[in-house]
Amino acid sequence: MSPSPITLSPPDYLPPSFVLSGYEIRVVLGRGGFGVTYKALDRKNNQTVVIKEYFPAPEVMAVRRVRGFYLEPNDAQSAQEFAEGLSYFLKEAKFLTKFNHANIVPIMNFFPALGTAYFVMPYLEGETLDNIVASKPERKQTPREVMAWLDPILDGLQAVHARGILHRDIKPSNIFIQKNHNPVLIDFGAAGDVLAGQKVPLALTHGYAPPEQYSANIPQGPWTDIYSLGAVIYYVLSGLHLLSPQTRIGADPCEIIFKKLEHEHDQNLIKTMERCLKLNYQERIQGVAELRQALGSTINRSINPLPKPKNVIKPLIANKGSILLKIRSFKLKTINVIKETYLYLFKNIKHLITFLIVALIIVLFFKIILKVFS
Ligand SMILES: Nc1ncnc2c1ncn2[C@@H]1O[C@H](COP(=O)(O)OP(=O)(O)O)[C@@H](O)[C@H]1O
Ligand SMILES: [Mg+2]
Repeated sequence: MSPSPITLSPPDYLPPSFVLSGYEIRVVLGRGGFGVTYKALDRKNNQTVVIKEYFPAPEVMAVRRVRGFYLEPNDAQSAQEFAEGLSYFLKEAKFLTKFNHANIVPIMNFFPALGTAYFVMPYLEGETLDNIVASKPERKQTPREVMAWLDPILDGLQAVHARGILHRDIKPSNIFIQKNHNPVLIDFGAAGDVLAGQKVPLALTHGYAPPEQYSANIPQGPWTDIYSLGAVIYYVLSGLHLLSPQTRIGADPCEIIFKKLEHEHDQNLIKTMERCLKLNYQERIQGVAELRQALGSTINRSINPLPKPKNVIKPLIANKGSILLKIRSFKLKTINVIKETYLYLFKNIKHLITFLIVALIIVLFFKIILKVFS
């Protein structure tokens, strides 16, 4: 019997309780450009999992038949594109299955079914960076909060790039912060193999995708993900999404925000972010190692957040009894006290005025004493 042409639209997804290869569908977590993400139950071990279904461009490329819920490409051309995309999807699933990194979402299983393919991940407890920022009253993060997720994400991304793979869809909703604060890069649906020359993906996110994702003539490489990371930093610090590359050509309206951020935050972090966001990929930071190097002082500062006390007297263990060292220590202590008093007075004008009045009284007092006794 031929399948009915009626589609489940919208939304087009597998219904709750549907059992697929031993996994029971619970709810839809998301609908991206490449497919549907479900929360599901692994019936074998009663474990909650996340299942990703390859289902790009619904309605345009493929439709889901009501009977049996299987996917069917719309026409011969769609069938070819669908098959090509599916092979990449499975390739990426294979890649992620072998991949083992604390900051990259792990893939436990993948299988073909219903005319398409699926991969299975553990269900992580936590929130996407997007939701975390949205739930904050000021809808922004501090540079220190940025470094807390950026540093580990760079670790994961570096490992992915080392295998010749690009993520190509880095954005706040694809950075997942686990309850234990460990950040994980998710959603490799747009991932591409640079070495295999896989070019323009089927979908991209405006504001996070660099010019080369809009054009097959500009090479993609690790710098492509660097641009998106720059856009994420821009978003979490400013609360604004970056404008798309077309809008930034010429007089870039984002420059005003760059200047504002430079004024408000660690200059090095903002300057580095700007270098990630260069429209010309050749002027951009080229990869994770370069980005780490550029962030250098910012990373150190966030790891060692408290400013080091100045003029710390080194322990005088070696020459404990030496009078000379004791004098040096006394000298340093005195300098410190004078410095601190100076800072204290000049930070607060009220204290400065009081200080001047007291000094004047003391001078006058000594003048009177001198006059009396001379
Ligand atoms: N492994 C996971 N554990 C828990 N939640 C997840 C997991 N993977 C994805 N999600 C949730 O599902 C949403 C959609 O997943 P994602 O992979 O980004 O697909 P898409 O953006 O294509 O819909 C995410 O924003 C996140 O909230
Ligand atoms: Mg996503």
